[in-house]
Amino acid sequence: MSSNPADSAVIFPAHHPERDSVGDFRADVLKGLSARPKTLPSKYLYDEIGSGLFEKICELPEYYLTRTELKLLRRHGAEMAAMIGRDCLLIEYGIGSGLKTRLLLGHLTDPVAYVPVDVAHPQLRESAATIRRDFPHIVVRPVCADFTTFSRLPDVGASSARRVVYFPGSTIGNFTRPEARQLLARAALLCGPNGGLLLGVDLKKHPQILEKAYNDRQSVTAAFNLNALARVNRELQATFRPDQFWHYAPYNPRHGRVEMHLVSRSDQQVQVAGENFSLAEGESICTEYCHKYSLRDLHELTRGTGFTIERTWLDENKYFSVSYLAVRRR
Ligand code: AVI
Repeated sequence: MSSNPADSAVIFPAHHPERDSVGDFRADVLKGLSARPKTLPSKYLYDEIGSGLFEKICELPEYYLTRTELKLLRRHGAEMAAMIGRDCLLIEYGIGSGLKTRLLLGHLTDPVAYVPVDVAHPQLRESAATIRRDFPHIVVRPVCADFTTFSRLPDVGASSARRVVYFPGSTIGNFTRPEARQLLARAALLCGPNGGLLLGVDLKKHPQILEKAYNDRQSVTAAFNLNALARVNRELQATFRPDQFWHYAPYNPRHGRVEMHLVSRSDQQVQVAGENFSLAEGESICTEYCHKYSLRDLHELTRGTGFTIERTWLDENKYFSVSYLAVRRR
């Protein structure tokens, strides 16, 4: 890892995501639009506009996930901290508004360092600055990297500290089962023999509740989804007309997931980075999967990853779960 002299606060690994982002974005978009059915990788929903819209989603009355997880942290934060133990090195996968992080850090006893890992550089810098201000006694070392492949911690001067990954928000649900399992296995390796994972996961429930959460009345989720097309237009000189697509997000019980789609309202042609694509009326571009788990699914997911679930906290409706997993001793 090497620091970027332009921004001494954020650490960029030698092969950091910003360096290749335009080329990767172009290649991924062209590949997704050439596939059958068409897709756009969900990570591209989160440019600056998309991240702002996602913050709004978290406050919607229908989107119970964030509110419920916050309630669990407020109610059981002390018990979670007791499972994590004192003097830990906390690594966070992804960065949001920082509200959950602040609640957790507030409960932990003498945490030695906090390492948030995210590809979104501006959010990382801002959030890390707020944490530094609120917790001046903790070493804060933000790393601009893709947490799905992140494997080397920066030097935080606490080599013997117990490493615990914090992965809230049910972001794990945005990965397929094999991807999620691989991510957990990597996290277990990163944490080492004494390590742990605090994981927030959205649970299976009535499909109507799920569908409302992803089809809100103010159409913020629709705007978030359609922004993917606007982003492709902005960054890849594309000719999508977002008003020619419907946001569609049904629950698929067979796969246990909400699927976000952009459905073409008509037969149309679009140009993306100099290439032509045809969309038939009713054809969809799938932009995101949001997998939902039962507690049994969750146990099944962790099998063979190196982690075992030690404790799970649920809200009174059993809508959302936060689990503490420990690296299994061999
Ligand atoms: C980021 N992630 C956990 C959200 C979810 O619920 O799967 C993304 C989201 N997509 C639409 N609404 C929220």
